[in-house]
Amino acid sequence: MSLVPVHIENLSPYKPGKPISHVKRELGLKHVIKLASNENPSGPSPLALDAVKNALFDYNRYPDSAAFDLRNMLAVRFNVKVENVILGAGSEGIMSTIMRTFLRKKDEIIAAKNSFIGFRVLANASGFKTNWISMDNYHHNLASMAKAINDQTKIIYLANPDNPTGTYFNVQKFDAFMSQVPARVLVLLDEAYFEYAKDVLDYPDSMHYRYDNVITLRTFSKAYGLAGFRIGYGFAHEDIINNLMKVKLPFEPSTPAQIAAIAALGDKNYLQSSLKLNKEGIAGMKKLFDEYELDYIPTIANFLTLVFKNEKSAKSFCKSMLQRGVILRYLSGFGLPECVRVTTGTQEENTIFFDHISRISKKKT
Ligand SMILES: Cc1ncc(COP(=O)(O)O)c(C=O)c1O
Repeated sequence: MSLVPVHIENLSPYKPGKPISHVKRELGLKHVIKLASNENPSGPSPLALDAVKNALFDYNRYPDSAAFDLRNMLAVRFNVKVENVILGAGSEGIMSTIMRTFLRKKDEIIAAKNSFIGFRVLANASGFKTNWISMDNYHHNLASMAKAINDQTKIIYLANPDNPTGTYFNVQKFDAFMSQVPARVLVLLDEAYFEYAKDVLDYPDSMHYRYDNVITLRTFSKAYGLAGFRIGYGFAHEDIINNLMKVKLPFEPSTPAQIAAIAALGDKNYLQSSLKLNKEGIAGMKKLFDEYELDYIPTIANFLTLVFKNEKSAKSFCKSMLQRGVILRYLSGFGLPECVRVTTGTQEENTIFFDHISRISKKKT
């Protein structure tokens, strides 16, 4: 008899995008670029790096478990109380705390079928029943998700914009959806790509209407360029935050993560130049994909997903790019075997990628 519950034994480990060093070794390539994991290609904010270096000799101490300075800074920035803010080891760390805090007995979860794989891993590992709702042409189908709510539903997970599709649901759709969600159901609104999306006119910035049963999750991993530090934040009603604070690992996030995030949050130049670089990268990709016979899903994030005729063409595109030293994300693991996701890179990386596209794809006639 196994020591491990069946639902754990049946899981497959999360497969991240291939690391650069791995591809270099495997294919004997000197130059490899990675446009696979929706990271910020600019490197971390120089202010964050300086702050982390300047505090090196404090790292023998445990972190401030209440993380007051950063929570306070976020509260001021977003016009809420400190009691409405939580931090975690990445927004995934907070998701994990949420699952451990709120789910019990026969509770159920609702989430979109092809959405963020990190949430899928947590939901499957939790052992709670999850109703995976089909997407509608790569968009969250909020009407179907609302219809799926039953007496057992406890958590609904929504990524807006979504990863890996890059699509979003607008204010109107979100309002209609929320009007059907009972107050006893928690809505987890994952806004990991908020900074890239916030200027889209009908994007429902959840801070503009705070429901008592909505938890907003955001991260320093994307626009703030701190993915390796593992730090994310969340906003919710103080009762929710108070209970999450009882369950979270006492010393997450780490001291360097807190220090880096405080400095990055104050580095407006870094954020602006990251957003500009991304905007130009997305515009360049769209232009090129339009010129070649490449179909893609509209996006408001820092990546764009290509849609191929079938699995074979998607796989072969990914493989040719890999052989040329460009790591992309093939999306079969997300249940989208016809899709390949491309994250924007530096100007130089984008040029390399565009050059390879022109060599392996046919121009539209
Ligand atoms: C939709 C979504 N949510 C959350 C995350 C994870 O963010 P973090 O690094 O803060 O855990 C990602 C990362 O790719 C994501 O795409």
